[in-house]
Amino acid sequence: MGSGPSFPLVPLTRDKIILITGANSGLGYEIAKWSAMMGATVILACRSESKTMEAIAKMNQEFQAEKSKETSRLSKNTTLALEFMHLDLASFESVRNFCDAFKKSGRKLHVLFCNAGLGFIPFQRTADGMEMLLQVNYLSHFVMIAKLLGVMQQSGPDCRILLMSSAAHIWGTFDLKTLNYSGPPDDFSSKNYYGRSKLYQIMQAAAMGRRISGSNVTINSIHPGIVDTPFWRNWDTGIRKCLLCCMQCSGVARSSFQGAKCSIDLTVNPNHSGMNGLYWVDCKIVTPSSDARNTRKQEELWETTLDLVRSYLTEEEIKSINGEVK
Ligand SMILES: NC(=O)c1ccc[n+]([C@@H]2O[C@H](COP(=O)([O-])OP(=O)(O)OC[C@H]3O[C@@H](n4cnc5c(N)ncnc54)[C@H](OP(=O)(O)O)[C@@H]3O)[C@@H](O)[C@H]2O)c1
Repeated sequence: MGSGPSFPLVPLTRDKIILITGANSGLGYEIAKWSAMMGATVILACRSESKTMEAIAKMNQEFQAEKSKETSRLSKNTTLALEFMHLDLASFESVRNFCDAFKKSGRKLHVLFCNAGLGFIPFQRTADGMEMLLQVNYLSHFVMIAKLLGVMQQSGPDCRILLMSSAAHIWGTFDLKTLNYSGPPDDFSSKNYYGRSKLYQIMQAAAMGRRISGSNVTINSIHPGIVDTPFWRNWDTGIRKCLLCCMQCSGVARSSFQGAKCSIDLTVNPNHSGMNGLYWVDCKIVTPSSDARNTRKQEELWETTLDLVRSYLTEEEIKSINGEVK
């Protein structure tokens, strides 16, 4: 499977349930495909049904191609267990409907991979009154985790929450007074606010890791490298476009598969059982920025976040994410 850090092919059964946001494209696509090729049931939580059904068809074709290479230890099933469920992270109502439908299904949940994300877009406010990057990348995943943690706590040992963060967290200023941008649209820095959203995810993994420590659920964050995916579609102005071309030509930019290896490893590798509250790059634990590891700031962010999303959560869900119910 190429050089560099990789992942083992772990035999998984269909009753292992892995939920991945933004799994129809880029990194999420690879994480979903490889997890399913090892035998798990993968739920693709995405906003476009047609795009996701196309992705599922392509994953099945690639599974057949991989089988014909006689790659050992892949699932013996003839098709992959892949399912679409609608989720729009720009809407808390959509997150609530998604979580209600998931809970109603009575299924267990072993891995919740918060992968979906946007970057480098002009200022936009969601219908819920939040800056778009803040809500899609961070707040909606926070709400989703709070709503589904109870299911994970009832799903047996070694359940994992994974957050797709980024080394770009170093671009983000830590300033809770301007968490939800309210300045003039033209002054909005998408680089800074993208960086912030990724910083918050690393801080969330640390703060929540402390709260759920000792339970059957762990939470970690990941940087996948610079990866050549549709993510960069909005990074299309002058010098930035040139820079991206250079990264592609020089090989600095990884393929989606290469970029997803650490994420797949953390999803399936039993050796990572119990790892909690950490930030990972290339299958290794790495120290993030000083803001990201500042415990006081992590706790301030936690309280501010809970205040912002409190009205979308029940008392039970708040207790659960605060580690008061294990
Ligand atoms: N590519 C990189 O170099 C890089 C580096 C560091 C971190 N990351 C992170 O990696 C993650 C995955 O990105 P990628 O590179 O794989 O890019 P991608 O191919 O563009 O995938 C992003 C996914 O997020 C989904 N998404 C966007 N807005 C959504 C919404 N409102 N509701 C639900 N889903 C939504 C997209 O859905 P649609 O297909 O419908 O748009 C897509 O499935 C992101 O969190 C990104 O910040 C990427």
